[in-house]
Amino acid sequence: MPETQPAHWVVLKFGGTSVSSRANWDRIAAILRARCAEGLRTAVVHSALSGITDALIRLMDRAQAGDAETEVAGIVARHRELAAALGIDLPPEVGQQLAELGRVAGGIALIGEVSDAVRARVLAAGELMATALGAAFLNAQGLVTTLVDARSWLIAQPVRGQRPSVLSASCGSDPDPALVARFAQLPGVILTQGFIAAGEGGQTVVLGRGGSDTSGAYLAARLSALRLEIWTDVPGMFSANPRAVPTARLLKSLHYDEAQEIATSGAKVLHPRCIMPLRQQRIPLQVYATQAPEHPGTIVSAEPADSGARLKAIAIRKGITLVSMDSPGMWHEVGFLADAFAVFRQHGMSVDLVSTSETNVTVSLDPQANALDSGEVAALVEDLGRLCRVRVIGPCASLSLLGRDIRAIIHRLGEAFELFEEQRIYLVSQAANDLNFTFVIDEDQGDRLVALLHDLLIQAIGNDPVLGPTWEQINVPQAGVAPRSDWWRARRAELLGLLDGRDAAYVCELATVSAQARALQSLGSVSRLFYAVKANAQPEILRCIAAAGLSFECVSPGEVLRVRQALPDLDTGRLLFTPNFAPRAEYEWALGQGLQLTVDNLYVLREWPGLFRDRAIFVRIDTGRGHGHHQKVRTAGTQSKFGVPLDEATELAEAAAEAGARIVGLHAHTGSGHFEIGAWVDAAEVLANVARHLPEVRVLNLGGGLGVPERPGQAALDLAALDAALGGFRAAHPQFELWLEPGRYLVAAAGVLLARVTQLKGKGELRYVGVATGMNSLIRPALYGAWHEIVNLTRLAETPAQLYTVVGPICESGDVLGHDRLLPPCREGDVLLIATAGAYGAAMASHYNLREPAPQLVL
Ligand code: LLP
Repeated sequence: MPETQPAHWVVLKFGGTSVSSRANWDRIAAILRARCAEGLRTAVVHSALSGITDALIRLMDRAQAGDAETEVAGIVARHRELAAALGIDLPPEVGQQLAELGRVAGGIALIGEVSDAVRARVLAAGELMATALGAAFLNAQGLVTTLVDARSWLIAQPVRGQRPSVLSASCGSDPDPALVARFAQLPGVILTQGFIAAGEGGQTVVLGRGGSDTSGAYLAARLSALRLEIWTDVPGMFSANPRAVPTARLLKSLHYDEAQEIATSGAKVLHPRCIMPLRQQRIPLQVYATQAPEHPGTIVSAEPADSGARLKAIAIRKGITLVSMDSPGMWHEVGFLADAFAVFRQHGMSVDLVSTSETNVTVSLDPQANALDSGEVAALVEDLGRLCRVRVIGPCASLSLLGRDIRAIIHRLGEAFELFEEQRIYLVSQAANDLNFTFVIDEDQGDRLVALLHDLLIQAIGNDPVLGPTWEQINVPQAGVAPRSDWWRARRAELLGLLDGRDAAYVCELATVSAQARALQSLGSVSRLFYAVKANAQPEILRCIAAAGLSFECVSPGEVLRVRQALPDLDTGRLLFTPNFAPRAEYEWALGQGLQLTVDNLYVLREWPGLFRDRAIFVRIDTGRGHGHHQKVRTAGTQSKFGVPLDEATELAEAAAEAGARIVGLHAHTGSGHFEIGAWVDAAEVLANVARHLPEVRVLNLGGGLGVPERPGQAALDLAALDAALGGFRAAHPQFELWLEPGRYLVAAAGVLLARVTQLKGKGELRYVGVATGMNSLIRPALYGAWHEIVNLTRLAETPAQLYTVVGPICESGDVLGHDRLLPPCREGDVLLIATAGAYGAAMASHYNLREPAPQLVL
C-alpha cells in the first residue's frame, strides 16, 4: 500500500444559532461533505444551542432560591424539540447531563451558593448536550462522526501575570503532533465542544464568553490546520453593524490586527480572543454565514488584500459610563493618577479609554468588562471622591473609526468632523496602536452618527480590493418568509384599471396581508398575536386579519369602534386597549366594555384607584432602551413618554395593591420598524425581571416593531431566528406566555399609493415630477425621512433614465415623496407607484390644504 499523505485539517466552528435548527444542520452536513470531497479532514467545534448558556446562568441564580425547576424543564424541552426536529432520539449523554443539572440545582439550593468550579461544570453542560445531538444527527445522516470530549485535548495553562480562573481559562496554542496523530486515527468528522476545557487537575473549566471561537482557534493552531472557518449568522465582517446600517460593506479581507480591533470595538461576529492563536501560527481565518454558504465571506490573515493607510469600519459601543475626575492640584501632584487608578482596581473595574488635561482626567468604563450596577458605580465614586471631584456621565456611546495608520488619514476626515458640530463630545482618544480613533458622545446620538459617518466615509468608495458589496446587495436569504413586497409588478394592469378616472388611491392586496399573517403564525414561541390597528384600520383589512386568526390591539375608543363595526361578532377577549395619556373617561369606558386594559403610568393607579378594584390589568414597562427606524418611533428610554420606568417597579406593585388591581400581564413596545432580534428577547428578559415582584403575571406582551424591508434587496426580518431566540427565552421561563402586537409587518408591503403625474419642471440641477397627492396622503418621508420605492407604473417596462425629485401639491418644501429617483422619462397622466405604503400611510393622512387624501381600495 502506498504511504498515505499526512492529512490536511480544516477546523470549522459553528455558533449557537447555526446549531439550533434542522435547516442549519442540513447545511452543516452539506458543508462537511463538500470539505471531505476536497480530500480534507474536518474537525468541528460548536457552541450550545442559542439561549442555553443564558438559561444555565439563570438556572444557577434561581437554584440558590430553590426555584430552578422551571429553568431545568425549559432546557429539557429545548433539547427534546431539536432532537425531534433532527429526527433522532435524545442521545444518552443529553439525558445524563440533564439529570446532573437537576442534582446540581438541588445541591446549590442546599448550600445557597455556587462555587466557580460548580459554575464551570453547569455552563459546560450546554456544549456537552448540543454536541451529543450534533454527532448523533450527522451519524444518522450517514456522515461518520466521532464525538471527542474537549476536556481530553484542551488543557488550561496558567498565564503569567494572571490569576488562574476556571471561568475564563487560557490554553496553549503550540502545534501538537501528538494530537494530530491521535485525531488521524479517529474515523470521519471529529466533533468537539467549544468553550470548555480541562483544568490541570482534570476538572471542567470554561473559556469565558465567546469562548467557542477561541476553542476553534486553539484547535486549528494545535492541528496546524490549513484554516479555521467560523460559521455564524452573518456572511462576514462588515464596515459597520449591518443590522443598523444596511449600506455597510462586506470587508473581504483583513489583517489579524484589524480584525482584532474591529472585534474588540463591538462587532459581534468574532470574539477578539480568537485572533492571537491564529496569528501566532499564521493560520488564516475565514468567516462565513451558515444560512448562505455560497457567499465568500471575510478572510483574515497576515497578508490582506491591501496594505496602505485607510479607514475600514465604523463601530459603536453603547452602555459606556464615563467617570470624570477634576482636581485643580492634579498637575503638580506626583502620583495622582496612580492613586486614582488604584481605586478603580480596588473596585475591580477596568478602564478602557483615558483622556487627561491639566485639571481633569476622564476615563470610560466598558460594560463588557465591568458588570456595572448603580450601587457599584456609587461605591467607586465615593472612594474616588476622597481624591478629587467626581462626575459620572452616561449612558454614552463610543464611536470608533477603525482602520490602519489612522493618523495618516485624519486630514481626509474634515467633512466628517462637521457631523459632530451639534454633539457633545466627552472624550476623544487615539489608540496607541494607530488602529482606531474614538469619540465618546451621548448614547442616543450614536446610531444616527454611525450611519452618517459611514455613508460619508465608506459607503461612497467605489470598487475596492477590501470593501465588497453592501449588506443590502448581498441580501442573505433569511429563514422564514420574506414579505411579498412587489406583488404589484404582476398586477400592473389591474392597478392601472383601478386608477381609471381617479388621481390617486391607496391599494392594498389582501393576499399579501394573509401571507404575512401566516408567516407570523409560524412563530411557535408566541402564544397570541394582535394586530396593531393604528397601522391601517381599513375595514376589509381588519376582516382579513381576523379571518387569519389574529386579535386586535387598539389605542383609542375610535379604533375599538372601528374594529367592532367591521367585525360585529368579534369576541371581546380578542381586543386589547392600550391608551397613553388618555382622559379618565376612556379608562372607565374600556373597563366597562370588558376590554383587556394596559396602563402605562402609575398616575392612573394612584389618582383613579376606584377604577381598578378587582380588575386584572396589564402594565406597560419602559425597558430603558428604544429601537426603531427613527428617533420619533423609539418608544423606550427617558426621551419617550411611554411606560413605567424600571426604577418604579416596586412602587408599581404597591400602587396596584392599594388600588386593588391584579397585574396579570406586562407589556413593552420599544419601537417600530427594526430588525434587532435581540431587542424583543431583551425586552422579555426585562419584563421577566419586573415580574419577580408581581406573582400574578402570566403574560409578557412584547409589543410590535417588526421591521419590513423598504429597499429592493434589503434583508427581511429573520422570523425563524426570532422564533428560536424567543423559544430560548420561553424554555427558560415557561411560566410566561409571550404575545406580540405587530402592525407594520402585516400591512406595509401589502399597500401601495398610486398617484397621477400632474406637472414636470426643471430647476437648477433638479428635475421635479409632480403628482396629484403628497404629504397629505403619505407623511412618512417628510416626518421620518422614510424611503419608499417609487416606480412609474405606466412605463414599468421602460428603462429608467432620468433622476427626479417626486413632489406633491402641498404648500411646503417638505412635500417630497422621494429624492433623486431614477425613473423613465415621465409624462403628465402617468401613474407613479409608491411602494410599501400599507402601514402608517392612509392611517396618518390628513386634509392639510383641504386636499382630500387618497382613498383606500383593496384587491
Ligand atoms: N404596540 C404599540 C403599543 C405601539 O405603539 C405600536 C406602534 C405597535 C404595537 C405596532 O408597531 P409596528 O409593529 O407597526 O412597528 N408612524 C410610524 C410608526 C409608529 C408606530 C407607533 N406604535 C411609521 O410610520 O413608521
